[in-house]
Amino acid sequence: MGESSVCKNKLEGKVAIITGGASGIGEATARVFSEHGARAIIIADIQDELGQNLASSIGSHFCTFIHCDVTNEDQVKSMVEWTVQKYGQLDIMFSNAGIVNRSDQTVLDLEFSAFDRLFAVNVRGMAACVKHAARAMVDRGVKGCIVCTASVAGSHGMGRRTDYCMSKHAVVGLVRSASKQLGEHGIRVNCVSPHGIATPMMCKALEMEADEVEKVYEARTRLKGVLRARHVADAVLFLASDQSAFVTGHDLSVDGGFST
Ligand SMILES: NC(=O)c1ccc[n+]([C@@H]2O[C@H](COP(=O)([O-])OP(=O)(O)OC[C@H]3O[C@@H](n4cnc5c(N)ncnc54)[C@H](O)[C@@H]3O)[C@@H](O)[C@H]2O)c1
Repeated sequence: MGESSVCKNKLEGKVAIITGGASGIGEATARVFSEHGARAIIIADIQDELGQNLASSIGSHFCTFIHCDVTNEDQVKSMVEWTVQKYGQLDIMFSNAGIVNRSDQTVLDLEFSAFDRLFAVNVRGMAACVKHAARAMVDRGVKGCIVCTASVAGSHGMGRRTDYCMSKHAVVGLVRSASKQLGEHGIRVNCVSPHGIATPMMCKALEMEADEVEKVYEARTRLKGVLRARHVADAVLFLASDQSAFVTGHDLSVDGGFST
């Protein structure tokens, strides 16, 4: 057996939900999950056209787009229930949907309607996805995996974007608490913490083209080269697969050495 075939199919037979799956890190992860033999992939997002096109390009016989706004707990619950009804179980929840505010949001200038909107997605939405995925797994006795997207901003202070930084610290707290509470059910809960990547979210927030964003972040990492969504997707694959069978409560930096 060649090396590539040994490395393939790490998710054979698994049913996975990816929130924020229509773009950026979520999209890259949907593609990696499909390359690794996932039985079903549900892309949950609010960008319907993008999500539908992605699902068709991956393969509509096993990849489905579902409109789901993670700020709405009923939509999250229905999306998880639909998945379990159709496929019998949920093995993997990649709770990844997140936003960043364009405004600076320094402590002196915090604007709380933007703050609340961001928390509704990045914190409350993340918690709703973990809650309903965990319930579905516990109900069916599935020893599943939950992976959340935090950020290097979840363990460092920031010169601005205080609301984003606070929200990602909250994600790490959610992951650590959920991993303690769900361990007895055999459910693992971890997060990935990327450094800056030129996804649509980041280009819009910085008001820069992708190549400019890449230059900004490349200058800050120890490793040479550009961090891409695919690097994060590979880390998510590790945490979602049996290769990390005894890893839980972990915050995996994908940052080219930025945090060291
Ligand atoms: N790009 C980076 O530099 C970076 C760094 C660290 C962490 N992150 C985190 O990565 C995650 C993915 O972001 P990305 O960079 O791939 O950006 P992206 O904009 O490409 O993808 C985010 C996706 O989330 C979706 N989304 C937003 N609000 C939603 C909601 N209420 N319900 C459902 N879906 C919603 C968007 O429609 C979009 O498709 C976010 O949690 C972000 O905070 C990104």
